[in-house]
Amino acid sequence: MNQNDLLNIRHATLQEAKAEMKTLLETRQPNYSLDAALYNDPHMFRVDMEEVFQKEWLFVGMTSEIPKRGDYFTVEIGQNPVLILRDADGSVNAFHNTCRHRGSRICTEHRGKVANLVCPYHQWTYDLKGNLLFAGTEMGGEFDLKQHGLKKAFCKTAGGFIFVSIGKEEPTGDFDEFLQTLEEYMEPYDVENTKLAVESHMYEKANWKLVLENNRECYHCSGSHPELLNTLLEWDDINDPRASQDFLDLYKDQAEKWDEEGIPHEHKSYGPGLRNRIVRMPLKKGVKVMTMDGEAGCKKMLGRVKNPQLGSMRILHLPNSWNHMQSDHFIVFRVLPISAQETMVTTKWFVHKDAVEGVDYDPERLRKVWDATNEQDRVLGEQNQLGINSVGYQPGPYSETYEFGVINFLEWYSETIKSNLA
Ligand code: FES
Ligand SMILES: [Fe+2]
Repeated sequence: MNQNDLLNIRHATLQEAKAEMKTLLETRQPNYSLDAALYNDPHMFRVDMEEVFQKEWLFVGMTSEIPKRGDYFTVEIGQNPVLILRDADGSVNAFHNTCRHRGSRICTEHRGKVANLVCPYHQWTYDLKGNLLFAGTEMGGEFDLKQHGLKKAFCKTAGGFIFVSIGKEEPTGDFDEFLQTLEEYMEPYDVENTKLAVESHMYEKANWKLVLENNRECYHCSGSHPELLNTLLEWDDINDPRASQDFLDLYKDQAEKWDEEGIPHEHKSYGPGLRNRIVRMPLKKGVKVMTMDGEAGCKKMLGRVKNPQLGSMRILHLPNSWNHMQSDHFIVFRVLPISAQETMVTTKWFVHKDAVEGVDYDPERLRKVWDATNEQDRVLGEQNQLGINSVGYQPGPYSETYEFGVINFLEWYSETIKSNLA
């Protein structure tokens, strides 16, 4: 079944899937992987879309991707095309990318620049605030343009991050507190004066939860990620049960220097399962950034950063993003489900706005470590999916020492679904 078939699932079948999902989550063995259906069933995938991706705040991109009026990029949240656009007064808005005439997608490109938004089908034209400006004379004299503006999605920005929600109501919770922290922790980077250096879109034949689970642990790192481990320390933060004394000493040493420069680093987290989490961690001793050799990725440092050894500030936002903020470039990751067993993972690398490609940075060098890591993770995720699809699969135990991040993620997922289906 592909994603378009999901439209045709009968309502009754969907209700059954919801009831079954609720039972599976209520009776699941804590700290064990989920029942196979939660990773591969198209009906349950549709529930994931309705209850998570069509309700929650999702990370979509950075404000510096659309610096000027009329700049836009598009995302597909399952079957929902969304348009993120900078308008004339400088604000960032999100709209459903679906025409109010007969529903055609309006912006068909991945990113671009427009004066107005013109639907390719019959040329209905909207301004940058989504107001319908023109619908031709064919609609008759009584036609009310005002009633046919583009539908808005909820959109919030903080520290250069753009989040959208396509729910009917704005999600509740402590999201604003997290945004305030994000604003504070991102201040040294001056995101408005950065630019997208390079991006990748990786298609993975695995359920989105397997992609997230894989990201939430580094148990697999030593077996799979030689490039990443040139620079990354596997510890999650200073509370990591595996953290060695050497690591704690390194953190103390670097944190003192960060404090001197007013670079935030302390762990802060919000929500069940550490849903929103931010912490700065040192990279390996002597290493500057996540390049193959640990040396600079860009000659110009970001914002007001002076110290090349800023480690990596890791930002987690469930359900769909993790990030690495370093001294001379930062990397953001976005996960968007396509179907029960297909996911798109987008990675973007940002540098200082004035950095010159080929002079100050080489995009190939910047992306090398995470291109390799993403590809290794894709294979792991796809193999995981194939094994789970087997009649021989049964949920297996997570290590509390090595896989606590996965346990946290599933706690958040499970609580979210159960309370939404209550
Ligand atoms: S569907 Fe957009 S103008 Fe007709
Ligand atoms: Fe990995």
